[in-house]
Amino acid sequence: MISVETDFETGREATSRGDAIIIVDVLRFSSSVVVGLARGAKAFIPVKTLAEARSLYKKNRRLILAGERGGVKPKGFHLGNSPREFERADLDGKYVVITTTNGTMALENSKGAKWLLVGSFINARAVSNVASRLTREGGNVTIVLASRKGRIFLEDFLCAGLLASNITDERRQMSDEAIAARLAWMGAERDLKVMEKGSHATYLEGIGYGQDVAFCLQRDVYDLVPCVKGSKIVRL
Ligand code: MLT
Repeated sequence: MISVETDFETGREATSRGDAIIIVDVLRFSSSVVVGLARGAKAFIPVKTLAEARSLYKKNRRLILAGERGGVKPKGFHLGNSPREFERADLDGKYVVITTTNGTMALENSKGAKWLLVGSFINARAVSNVASRLTREGGNVTIVLASRKGRIFLEDFLCAGLLASNITDERRQMSDEAIAARLAWMGAERDLKVMEKGSHATYLEGIGYGQDVAFCLQRDVYDLVPCVKGSKIVRL
Protein backbone atom coordinates (compact mmCIF):
# COMPACT_ATOMS: atom_id res chain seq x y z
CA MET A 1 0.00 0.00 0.00
CA ILE A 2 1.16 3.53 -0.77
CA SER A 3 -0.51 6.15 1.43
CA VAL A 4 -0.35 9.92 1.65
CA GLU A 5 -1.09 11.43 5.07
CA THR A 6 -2.10 15.07 5.27
CA ASP A 7 -1.74 15.36 9.04
CA PHE A 8 1.73 14.74 10.36
CA GLU A 9 0.34 13.41 13.65
CA THR A 10 -0.78 10.27 11.79
CA GLY A 11 2.91 9.51 11.29
CA ARG A 12 2.66 7.71 14.63
CA GLU A 13 0.20 5.17 13.21
CA ALA A 14 2.35 4.57 10.14
CA THR A 15 5.32 4.06 12.46
CA SER A 16 3.50 1.42 14.50
CA ARG A 17 2.39 -0.37 11.30
CA GLY A 18 6.08 -0.68 10.36
CA ASP A 19 5.75 1.40 7.17
CA ALA A 20 8.67 3.06 5.44
CA ILE A 21 7.91 6.77 5.88
CA ILE A 22 8.91 9.70 3.68
CA ILE A 23 8.56 13.16 5.21
CA VAL A 24 7.80 15.79 2.57
CA ASP A 25 8.25 19.50 3.31
CA VAL A 26 9.33 20.91 -0.07
CA LEU A 27 9.34 24.53 1.20
CA ARG A 28 11.77 24.26 2.78
CA PHE A 29 12.79 21.81 5.51
CA SER A 30 13.23 18.73 3.28
CA SER A 31 15.12 20.69 0.63
CA SER A 32 17.45 22.32 3.19
CA VAL A 33 18.35 18.96 4.73
CA VAL A 34 19.15 17.47 1.31
CA VAL A 35 21.38 20.42 0.42
CA GLY A 36 23.07 20.51 3.85
CA LEU A 37 24.04 16.84 3.66
CA ALA A 38 25.19 17.30 0.07
CA ARG A 39 27.41 20.15 1.29
CA GLY A 40 29.14 17.71 3.63
CA ALA A 41 27.29 18.16 6.92
CA LYS A 42 27.86 15.04 8.99
CA ALA A 43 24.31 15.02 10.32
CA PHE A 44 21.31 17.14 11.20
CA ILE A 45 19.95 17.06 14.73
CA PRO A 46 16.25 17.97 14.54
CA VAL A 47 14.74 19.54 17.66
CA LYS A 48 11.27 20.87 18.40
CA THR A 49 12.01 24.18 20.12
CA LEU A 50 14.37 27.14 19.85
CA ALA A 51 15.22 26.63 23.53
CA GLU A 52 16.36 23.04 22.90
CA ALA A 53 18.52 24.20 19.99
CA ARG A 54 20.12 26.98 22.04
CA SER A 55 20.76 24.70 24.99
CA LEU A 56 22.55 22.13 22.78
CA TYR A 57 24.70 24.95 21.41
CA LYS A 58 25.60 26.14 24.91
CA LYS A 59 27.02 22.69 25.60
CA ASN A 60 28.83 22.39 22.27
CA ARG A 61 29.90 25.56 20.46
CA ARG A 62 31.02 23.59 17.41
CA LEU A 63 27.41 22.92 16.45
CA ILE A 64 25.70 24.95 13.71
CA LEU A 65 22.26 26.31 14.61
CA ALA A 66 19.74 26.47 11.76
CA GLY A 67 16.02 26.89 11.31
CA GLU A 68 13.18 29.35 11.14
CA ARG A 69 10.14 30.78 12.79
CA GLY A 70 7.73 32.56 10.47
CA GLY A 71 10.19 31.69 7.68
CA VAL A 72 12.89 33.87 9.23
CA LYS A 73 16.22 32.94 10.88
CA PRO A 74 15.83 32.98 14.70
CA LYS A 75 17.98 35.37 16.72
CA GLY A 76 21.53 34.13 17.27
CA PHE A 77 21.27 31.27 14.76
CA HIS A 78 24.00 30.75 12.16
CA LEU A 79 21.65 29.79 9.34
CA GLY A 80 17.99 30.17 8.50
CA ASN A 81 16.03 27.50 6.64
CA SER A 82 17.07 28.56 3.16
CA PRO A 83 18.54 25.77 1.02
CA ARG A 84 20.41 28.43 -0.95
CA GLU A 85 22.07 29.57 2.25
CA PHE A 86 23.03 25.95 2.99
CA GLU A 87 24.51 25.73 -0.50
CA ARG A 88 26.98 28.51 0.31
CA ALA A 89 27.74 27.50 3.90
CA ASP A 90 30.85 25.67 5.03
CA LEU A 91 29.29 22.55 6.54
CA ASP A 92 32.01 19.99 5.95
CA GLY A 93 32.01 17.51 8.85
CA LYS A 94 29.64 19.69 10.89
CA TYR A 95 26.59 18.77 12.96
CA VAL A 96 23.62 21.05 12.25
CA VAL A 97 20.89 21.47 14.85
CA ILE A 98 17.67 22.35 13.03
CA THR A 99 14.27 23.50 14.26
CA THR A 100 11.46 24.54 11.91
CA THR A 101 7.74 25.18 12.25
CA ASN A 102 6.33 22.07 10.54
CA GLY A 103 9.14 19.97 9.07
CA THR A 104 10.88 19.05 12.30
CA MET A 105 7.50 18.44 13.96
CA ALA A 106 6.49 16.06 11.17
CA LEU A 107 9.75 14.20 11.64
CA GLU A 108 9.27 14.06 15.41
CA ASN A 109 5.85 12.45 15.01
CA SER A 110 7.29 9.64 12.89
CA LYS A 111 10.36 8.94 15.03
CA GLY A 112 10.89 5.25 15.63
CA ALA A 113 9.83 4.29 12.10
CA LYS A 114 11.78 1.37 10.67
CA TRP A 115 12.77 3.62 7.76
CA LEU A 116 12.29 7.36 8.00
CA LEU A 117 13.39 9.24 4.88
CA VAL A 118 13.25 12.87 3.82
CA GLY A 119 11.95 13.69 0.36
CA SER A 120 11.51 16.73 -1.84
CA PHE A 121 11.48 17.56 -5.55
CA ILE A 122 15.24 18.03 -5.58
CA ASN A 123 15.85 14.39 -4.54
CA ALA A 124 12.57 12.88 -5.79
CA ARG A 125 14.02 10.11 -7.93
CA ALA A 126 16.62 9.11 -5.34
CA VAL A 127 14.15 8.90 -2.44
CA SER A 128 11.57 7.03 -4.56
CA ASN A 129 14.18 4.47 -5.62
CA VAL A 130 15.25 3.86 -2.02
CA ALA A 131 11.63 3.55 -0.81
CA SER A 132 10.86 1.09 -3.63
CA ARG A 133 13.92 -0.96 -2.78
CA LEU A 134 13.21 -1.05 0.95
CA THR A 135 9.68 -2.27 0.35
CA ARG A 136 10.44 -4.53 -2.60
CA GLU A 137 8.19 -7.28 -1.26
CA GLY A 138 5.23 -4.93 -1.54
CA GLY A 139 5.60 -3.40 1.97
CA ASN A 140 3.84 -0.17 2.89
CA VAL A 141 5.16 3.27 2.07
CA THR A 142 3.55 6.25 3.81
CA ILE A 143 4.29 9.73 2.54
CA VAL A 144 3.70 12.17 5.40
CA LEU A 145 3.10 15.79 4.43
CA ALA A 146 4.34 18.48 6.81
CA SER A 147 0.86 19.80 7.47
CA ARG A 148 -1.94 19.35 9.97
CA LYS A 149 -5.64 18.62 10.09
CA GLY A 150 -5.97 17.87 6.40
CA ARG A 151 -4.78 21.33 5.33
CA ILE A 152 -2.39 20.60 2.51
CA PHE A 153 0.37 22.69 1.06
CA LEU A 154 0.14 22.53 -2.74
CA GLU A 155 3.82 21.77 -3.38
CA ASP A 156 3.91 18.98 -0.77
CA PHE A 157 0.77 17.33 -2.15
CA LEU A 158 2.12 17.46 -5.71
CA CYS A 159 5.52 16.16 -4.63
CA ALA A 160 3.74 13.27 -2.85
CA GLY A 161 1.97 12.58 -6.15
CA LEU A 162 5.30 12.46 -7.98
CA LEU A 163 6.81 10.11 -5.36
CA ALA A 164 3.72 7.87 -5.42
CA SER A 165 3.92 7.73 -9.24
CA ASN A 166 7.58 6.77 -9.05
CA ILE A 167 7.08 4.10 -6.38
CA THR A 168 3.90 2.42 -7.52
CA ASP A 169 3.89 -0.88 -9.36
CA GLU A 170 1.26 -3.48 -10.18
CA ARG A 171 1.55 -5.16 -6.74
CA ARG A 172 0.79 -2.10 -4.71
CA GLN A 173 -2.52 -0.59 -3.78
CA MET A 174 -2.79 3.14 -3.27
CA SER A 175 -4.90 4.99 -0.73
CA ASP A 176 -7.47 7.47 -2.04
CA GLU A 177 -5.19 10.34 -0.99
CA ALA A 178 -2.27 8.78 -2.87
CA ILE A 179 -4.40 8.36 -6.00
CA ALA A 180 -5.60 11.97 -5.71
CA ALA A 181 -2.05 13.25 -5.23
CA ARG A 182 -0.90 11.28 -8.25
CA LEU A 183 -3.71 12.64 -10.42
CA ALA A 184 -2.93 16.16 -9.23
CA TRP A 185 0.73 15.65 -10.08
CA MET A 186 -0.13 14.35 -13.56
CA GLY A 187 -2.13 17.54 -14.10
CA ALA A 188 0.58 19.86 -12.76
CA GLU A 189 3.62 18.19 -14.33
CA ARG A 190 3.37 20.28 -17.48
CA ASP A 191 3.20 23.54 -15.55
CA LEU A 192 5.36 23.40 -12.44
CA LYS A 193 5.06 27.16 -12.05
CA VAL A 194 1.54 26.56 -10.72
CA MET A 195 3.22 25.77 -7.40
CA GLU A 196 4.46 29.35 -7.14
CA LYS A 197 0.82 30.29 -6.56
CA GLY A 198 0.57 28.11 -3.43
CA SER A 199 0.07 29.84 -0.06
CA HIS A 200 3.51 29.08 1.39
CA ALA A 201 5.31 29.89 -1.85
CA THR A 202 3.47 33.22 -1.95
CA TYR A 203 4.36 33.87 1.69
CA LEU A 204 8.04 33.11 1.13
CA GLU A 205 8.07 35.34 -1.96
CA GLY A 206 6.57 38.12 0.17
CA ILE A 207 9.34 37.91 2.78
CA GLY A 208 12.08 37.90 0.14
CA TYR A 209 12.64 34.16 -0.40
CA GLY A 210 11.22 33.86 -3.92
CA GLN A 211 14.51 32.36 -5.14
CA ASP A 212 14.22 29.60 -2.56
CA VAL A 213 10.87 28.64 -4.07
CA ALA A 214 12.37 28.36 -7.57
CA PHE A 215 15.30 26.38 -6.15
CA CYS A 216 13.08 23.90 -4.28
CA LEU A 217 10.87 23.24 -7.31
CA GLN A 218 13.76 21.84 -9.37
CA ARG A 219 13.48 18.10 -9.92
CA ASP A 220 16.07 15.37 -9.30
CA VAL A 221 19.14 17.53 -8.90
CA TYR A 222 20.51 15.60 -5.90
CA ASP A 223 21.11 11.87 -5.82
CA LEU A 224 21.01 11.83 -2.05
CA VAL A 225 18.56 10.48 0.52
CA PRO A 226 18.46 11.78 4.10
CA CYS A 227 17.51 9.07 6.56
CA VAL A 228 16.85 9.25 10.31
CA LYS A 229 19.13 7.10 12.46
CA GLY A 230 18.46 7.46 16.17
CA SER A 231 18.21 11.16 16.94
CA LYS A 232 20.05 12.31 13.80
CA ILE A 233 19.40 12.71 10.08
CA VAL A 234 22.26 11.29 8.06
CA ARG A 235 22.99 10.57 4.44
CA LEU A 236 21.85 7.04 3.56
C1 MLT B 1 8.61 24.44 8.06
O1 MLT B 1 9.20 23.47 8.56
O2 MLT B 1 7.52 24.86 8.50
C2 MLT B 1 9.16 25.12 6.84
O3 MLT B 1 10.17 24.45 6.25
C3 MLT B 1 8.98 26.58 6.78
C4 MLT B 1 9.94 27.36 5.90
O4 MLT B 1 11.04 27.68 6.33
O5 MLT B 1 9.63 27.67 4.75
